[in-house]
Order: sequence, then C-alpha cells, then structure tokens
Amino acid sequence: MAIVKANISHMDQIDELLDVWENEAGDDSISYRSMETYINGETVYLHIPEDEDIISGIMVVSDSYKYMDLSYLYVHPDYRGDGVGSELLESLTELLDHKCMNAFLKVADNNEAQFLYERFGFIQSKTLKEEGFIDMERCYREELTC
Ligand SMILES: CC(C)(COP(=O)(O)OP(=O)(O)OC[C@H]1O[C@@H](n2cnc3c(N)ncnc32)[C@H](O)[C@@H]1OP(=O)(O)O)[C@@H](O)C(=O)NCCC(=O)NCCS
Repeated sequence: MAIVKANISHMDQIDELLDVWENEAGDDSISYRSMETYINGETVYLHIPEDEDIISGIMVVSDSYKYMDLSYLYVHPDYRGDGVGSELLESLTELLDHKCMNAFLKVADNNEAQFLYERFGFIQSKTLKEEGFIDMERCYREELTC
C-alpha cells in the first residue's frame, strides 16, 4: 500500500474511481474538471494497493496557511472496511500535527463516517451551520511537534 500525492499522470485511474463515485453519490461526487483543479493545487492524496492498478481511496483537502479543510474522503466500495479510510486519515493527522494546523470538515448527520473521524481526533463543532450536516474540527497536537 502507498499513499501518494496525486499528479496528472494518475488521471486515468482517478477517472475510473470518479465513475464509481458518481454512480454511488451523484452530485455529491467530484467532476473530472474539479478534480484536475484540485490536483494542480497539490491537495489530492491517493491510496494505492500494492501491485494493483487501481486507486482504492482518495482524499481531497483545501489548504489555507492557517487551517485545512477535509473536502472529500472516498473509498472504492470493494475496499471498504479494510482500513483504507483510516490510513488516509492517519496520513492527514500526521501532516496536520507536523504543520501545526487545525482541520475542519462537514459530514451528513446520518453518515457513520463521523465515528471514523472521531477516532482521528475530530470533535463536533458547537456551531451548527447547515441543516442535515455536522461540522467537525480537530486541533493539532501541539505537544508533538510545535
Ligand atoms: C467513510 C469511508 C471513507 C470509510 O472508509 P473505509 O476504508 O471503509 O474505513 P475503515 O476501513 O478505515 O474504517 C471503517 C470504519 O468506518 C466507519 N464507516 C463509515 N461508513 C462506512 C461504510 N459505508 N462502510 C464501512 N465502514 C464505514 C465505521 O465506523 C467503520 O468502523 P469499524 O472499523 O468499527 O467497522 C467509506 O465508507 C466511504 O468512502 N464512504 C462513502 C463516502 C463517504 O461517506 N465519505 C465521507 C463523507 S464526509
């Protein structure tokens, strides 16, 4: 398994994953065009299984100098429940602690992914912004690196 920062050479494999994603989530997935923009901004991370020509998981973040927004986390349905999402989040939290950055995300309130996020230090924010969604935040672990 490897977690790599995506570049344009991954686009064909990403496109296959985007098709699966769109079939499952419709408008909640990412368009090919938006994905290219994210990749050019160097904010897309891929989970690639060893010796396989497929992308098992993808994580898209938006990075400002003060905090990071976890915009998308998607694992190919055939690879769910095997720790792919956890490995992507583990790499994210390492990066956050290293850069001393706080992080934010938004998740549908009926999505069990919120329990996964809690395992990685995200807690529910006090502010409630959008009906049907939960805002979560994670503070970097200052004692580790800062
Ligand atoms: C949420 C998601 C990223 C988890 O990825 P994953 O690789 O299956 O996660 P892991 O194997 O590391 O961890 C599984 C845990 O995730 C949680 N989970 C949330 N949704 C899940 C799902 N549909 N299938 C399996 N586990 C899910 C469970 O709490 C599970 O806990 P367990 O280990 O006690 O069983 C993946 O299910 C997915 O891509 N779902 C569709 C897109 C989505 O909802 N993304 C989050 C939007 S904010």
